[in-house]
Amino acid sequence: MSLYRNSIWFLKGIHEYTRKGFEAAAKRFVEKDLEVSVAGRSFMITGANSGIGKAAAIGIAKRGGVIHMVCRNKDKAEEARAEIVKETGNKEIHVHILDLSEPRKVWEFAEAFKKKFKSLNVLINNAGCMVKEREVTTEGLEKNFASNTLGVYILTKSLIPLLEKSSDPRVITVSSGGMLVQKLRPGNLQSERGPFDGTKAYAQNKRQQVVMMEQWAKMHPNIHFSVMHPGWADTPAVAAAMPDFYRSMQDKLRSPEQGADTVVWLAVSEAAAAKPSGRFFQDRKMVSTHLPLAWTRSPQEQDEKFMVVLEEMAKSFQPH
Ligand SMILES: NC(=O)c1ccc[n+]([C@@H]2O[C@H](COP(=O)([O-])OP(=O)(O)OC[C@H]3O[C@@H](n4cnc5c(N)ncnc54)[C@H](OP(=O)(O)O)[C@@H]3O)[C@@H](O)[C@H]2O)c1
Repeated sequence: MSLYRNSIWFLKGIHEYTRKGFEAAAKRFVEKDLEVSVAGRSFMITGANSGIGKAAAIGIAKRGGVIHMVCRNKDKAEEARAEIVKETGNKEIHVHILDLSEPRKVWEFAEAFKKKFKSLNVLINNAGCMVKEREVTTEGLEKNFASNTLGVYILTKSLIPLLEKSSDPRVITVSSGGMLVQKLRPGNLQSERGPFDGTKAYAQNKRQQVVMMEQWAKMHPNIHFSVMHPGWADTPAVAAAMPDFYRSMQDKLRSPEQGADTVVWLAVSEAAAAKPSGRFFQDRKMVSTHLPLAWTRSPQEQDEKFMVVLEEMAKSFQPH
């Protein structure tokens, strides 16, 4: 079954996730959707110093948005900030330093942000990693899970009250089509059982992000949640984590801007906000979170239990 799923997914990828796939999809894009000003609205983007996150920051900054870049490396962040200011002429670009794999720091950062800023219109959970060997953080968490799932959970959870106070609030999470080959496994969140496979751990985290957004959409009807697949884009993460794939696909990969197109669309357009909350998008279109005939659906009770487990874990790191 997993061979079937992987083959279907790869074939789908070749047709849809490449640059050609983007160009074909772009023929149905409505240009007017992105002809908007978002001056005065604020956007927090994690991992905004590189790849898709930086391209999204540029796309939104060009439309006048205030950008809060959340990055783990100060030098890289400042360099990217200067580039975004230069390219867009927008000076409202702020840098915040945070490593999302450190849950206590994520709580502290989000709580301090809420005290300092009166509103946040859009949160873009973009930062992500694929760590190939099992690595455990100082807080005892498997690194992929800590960065891609628990960090996203705590940041979003803590900022929900601020988002709810702000106008037209949205949360967008950059997942991956790789999650299509994974069924939610809430009993092995930290990949403790069985041989460790970093690619699978990453894809499982990306499935977890989809479930998180679906569940939060039900709990918080005033916020528009969405989760998306950027396609296969030429970024440092792909080159470092999947060197063979990168080498063989390099000339077929999307540019970071093409990968970020749907992020920007979800963040700024009225058309996106008119779609139901909690859905999965690819190239500005709502798409299924499961491949045809795939055994990746989890029962509702399991999705809810997963949220309860995350909540308990998150609380255990919350400063008093
Ligand atoms: N490119 C693709 O084909 C593709 C496909 C599917 C999904 N995605 C998703 O797209 C998102 C963006 O990735 P990308 O391809 O644009 O790669 P990228 O250029 O390498 O960007 C990844 C960003 O995430 C940051 N990051 C990673 N771990 C972090 C942590 N613990 N705390 C804070 N920041 C952290 C990185 O910071 P540093 O620069 O300091 O490392 C970087 O800014 C990821 O969620 C990825 O899973 C990408």
